[in-house]
Amino acid sequence: MATRNSASLTRQVSQAFQEIFGGTPCFIARAPGRVNLIGEHTDYNDGFVLPMAIDRAVYIAFCARQDGHVRLHSLDLKRSAKFDLDALSLPEKEAGGNAWEAYVEGVAWALQEAGYKLRGWQGVVSGNVPIGAGLSSSAALELAAARAFATVSELAWEPATMARLAQRAENEWVGVACGIMDQMISASGQEGHALLIDCRSLQTEAVPLPGGTSVVVLDTGTRRGLVESAYNERRAQCEAAARFFGVPALRDVDVDAFEARAGEMDELTRRRARHVITENARTLQAVQAMHRDDARAVGQLMDGSHASLRDDFEVSSEALNTMVAIAGEQEGCLGARMTGAGFGGCAVALVEARVAETFARNVARTYQEAVNLEPAVYVSRAAAGAEVAPAPSIRDS
Ligand code: GLA
Repeated sequence: MATRNSASLTRQVSQAFQEIFGGTPCFIARAPGRVNLIGEHTDYNDGFVLPMAIDRAVYIAFCARQDGHVRLHSLDLKRSAKFDLDALSLPEKEAGGNAWEAYVEGVAWALQEAGYKLRGWQGVVSGNVPIGAGLSSSAALELAAARAFATVSELAWEPATMARLAQRAENEWVGVACGIMDQMISASGQEGHALLIDCRSLQTEAVPLPGGTSVVVLDTGTRRGLVESAYNERRAQCEAAARFFGVPALRDVDVDAFEARAGEMDELTRRRARHVITENARTLQAVQAMHRDDARAVGQLMDGSHASLRDDFEVSSEALNTMVAIAGEQEGCLGARMTGAGFGGCAVALVEARVAETFARNVARTYQEAVNLEPAVYVSRAAAGAEVAPAPSIRDS
């Protein structure tokens, strides 16, 4: 995969802005994708997640408009779109409207629903978060758009509020039933840190990555269409399990309470619940291990998470299992697991930094030999969350 870095993306969106709209852009918004280190399928159970924002992001070069219109151009999709801020209401939305601009429209709709008065803008969008790989390119687009709206409309930027509204945009406007993790980490990421998010209170704690380690993203090159229906089915199973325990969400059941009554549950619900309940515990243990700088313990918890997602929650895939197994065999690998919703997309590994590049090369080669698919394997840095800055003049950049 051709990668473009931050400086070249900023330059490209700025130049395209000039060509399409005339004049230099006023601002650049940037919002990152994410990789989740541990805490999978826990967010919609009001539980704990530990993602980090990655050094791949969506960029928008933009300026305010005097009318209430938004005009957009996507450099990656080579498509333009426009919409009127006064004409956004859910019932009139076309069915199946999850084209890329729907994420921007949805953010405008959710902001207006929350009572914000918006101004229009025009902008050029591009990015290097691979689309559909499970690294949250949609949340990145939503948060970059939220930054653009907040800037031109002079709204205070409160990351958790913006994340909630972006999630609402995705749930209700785009029609995808995601939890809050992706939007929260894209809004609130901290350089060099993972972020513990309590998905009930939205309180966050920045947790330093263990010293001498690197986070490696392992994209299997597989994409699965079934993710959405399976995701909704898992959510329903988790809700049924919470009802069994008589609590609002599985977050409220600890491992002891689960074990005391596990025998009374049907087998499938028991396994689904066991994943979520033990995963919440693993996530909090991983935070403790990071504070002790115990990279080995973090890695073991990641391995445990993968086994639980594979066997109890059943959201892994053959490609993901192969990738994780290959990663685990390499020198310097501390732990590896699938990451994101599952069924395809990416795994993540925690690796000793001194061997990270060799690790990435060896895993890519071995995986390609094993499954005959080209993976993308790269070391990732923990980046900051969504931000906006005055656009550099094109001559300077
Ligand atoms: C997707 C969703 C998130 C989360 C993960 C699984 O990425 O968007 O909200 O539920 O799956 O942890």
